[in-house]
Parts: sequence; structure tokens; C-alpha cells
Amino acid sequence: NQEEGIRPQRLDDYIGQKELKSVLHIAIQAAKGRNESLDHLLLYGPPGLGKTTMSLILATEMGVNCKITAAPALERPRDIMGILCSLKEGDILFIDEIHRMTRMTEELLYPAMEDYRLDITIGKGQTAKTRSIPLPKFTLVGATTRVGSLTSPLRDRFGLIQRLRFYETDELTLIVKRTADVLKVCVTEEGAEEIARRSRGTPRIANRLLKRVRDYCQVNKVESIDRKFAEEALEVFNVDPMGLDWTDRLVLKVMIEQFNGGPVGLEAVASATGEDAQTIEEVYEPYLLQIGYVHRTPRGRVATVAARKHLNYE
Ligand code: ADE
Repeated sequence: NQEEGIRPQRLDDYIGQKELKSVLHIAIQAAKGRNESLDHLLLYGPPGLGKTTMSLILATEMGVNCKITAAPALERPRDIMGILCSLKEGDILFIDEIHRMTRMTEELLYPAMEDYRLDITIGKGQTAKTRSIPLPKFTLVGATTRVGSLTSPLRDRFGLIQRLRFYETDELTLIVKRTADVLKVCVTEEGAEEIARRSRGTPRIANRLLKRVRDYCQVNKVESIDRKFAEEALEVFNVDPMGLDWTDRLVLKVMIEQFNGGPVGLEAVASATGEDAQTIEEVYEPYLLQIGYVHRTPRGRVATVAARKHLNYE
């Protein structure tokens, strides 16, 4: 399966996030040396930077299984109970979007994380009884795009809290070349670099763009992806030289044309673009902030001079 092959399997194959890798390398060695499970780990940062991938790598390195779920799938208490009871000693439980857990589910997690114990209530009102079920020593890996939305009791139960950063172009170039190998497509150094440059610092986007460029080259009967074809193809797919797509540009355009460059509130941008406010905040805005096209001020978002220049306003 090619999709699986695209994800690195070992810590040594994981490109970038140097700081995160060294922290986890130490945690893995120490836990193994003591024959213990890893501490609970909270990973936060923009989507597509490799949170799930890192969780799968941790499981491989520790020689345990990884169960993957997301908070929206854990709406009822019995959902999380079922998963916790299916874990084996040392297993990793990955919960994506962990800031979206319901209160009941979250409260079941506290004793599970702290004392490896599931507290269940049987019956209702005065006759209700509580029972404790012991759980194996597992590791919870939580992932979120918004660490500020976690309640402090939940955040405080993670032994390790790590942020993932946007990748540099040279790191993404290596990732594109690695994925090209897995997909058995030919790409030149410059071709890989062009795709990398337009990937908004995000491996998931780099791999997605590579596939679109591959399609373009196949249809045009081109053997190898060089810079020219990467540029041509990405133009067709509406990805500009900074990697901005149609929605990124729309967000900036609305800020500049309808709100005079700002400051403007998130909700106003959302309704003027027809995008969901949370999606703008968590998916589009982080990279626009990173490259300095948008600033956040106490009075709202501002589109910068660099953004105006990029979109040819003067
Ligand atoms: N594929 C996706 N993310 C990756 C990473 N960080 N390193 C290597 N390959 C990847």
C-alpha cells in the first residue's frame, strides 16, 4: 500500500521537527530502559505537520500497538470506555482533535491517565454506585490544533507537551523526493524544490501537490518532473508561487477590498468569504501569519503590505 509507505515508520526516517525528535528519542530510550510505558504526550500545531505519523512511529519504536481515534467519535462515555478496555499494556491511544471532547468523556480520561483506572457509575441518583476497573498502563497521545482550548486539568495530565512547527523548504524537498521514490515517479532536485516551496510548510500538502503534478505529467506524457513542469502543473491547480490556493487568496482579497486591509474580526472575514471561522483560524490563517501576510492585533486581523504586494495591489 503506497499510502502507508508515504508515512515514515521509524524516528530516523522522520524528516524535520528536530527538537521534537530529540525529546522523543530521550523519552523512548528512558521508558524502554525502565521497562515502562511512555508518558502521556500532547502534540499541538497546524494540521498536516505529522502528529498522527509521529504517534504511529512511537508505537513502532516502543513495539506496541497504536489505536487511532478522534474526539468527535467519542461523544458517548461508552465510546471511550470500549476503547480503553481494549488496550494492552504499553499500547498507545491516539486521540485527534482532543480539544473537542465532551465533558463526560474528558472526566473519564482523568483517572484513566493518572491511575490507569476506569471509574464507572452504575444506576442513577441515590442508589448509584461507582466501580473502578483497572486498566493496563497505556500512553495517551493527544493531538490538537488549538492547545489553548484544552481545559487545564486535561493539559496538566500530559507529561510531555510538544509543538510541531512548519517545515523549511529544504526539509520538504527531502520529503517530496522520498514520497516520489515510494510512488515511483521521477522528479529532479529543482522539481522537488518547486513543489516544496509551494507547500505552505506542510508535508501533507507537499505530498498532495506531488500527486497532482504526477497526474499532470502523466497526462502530458512527461517522463520526469522538473521545475518547469512543476510550475506549469501547479498553476493549473491554482497554487501560486507562495503556495497560496484559491481560499488563501480570497481571504486576503476580502480583507483588503472589503475591510480596507483591516483590522477586521475573524467572523466578518468568515461571512464575507463563505468559509467557516474555525477553518480559517486553524487551517488558513496559521501559514498566512507565518509568512507575514496577516498580523493579529487586539482589534482584529490586518492584511500586511507584503500581502498587498503579493496580490498586486498598490
Ligand atoms: N512524510 C510526511 N511527513 C514526513 C516527515 N516528517 N518525514 C518524512 N516523511 C514524511
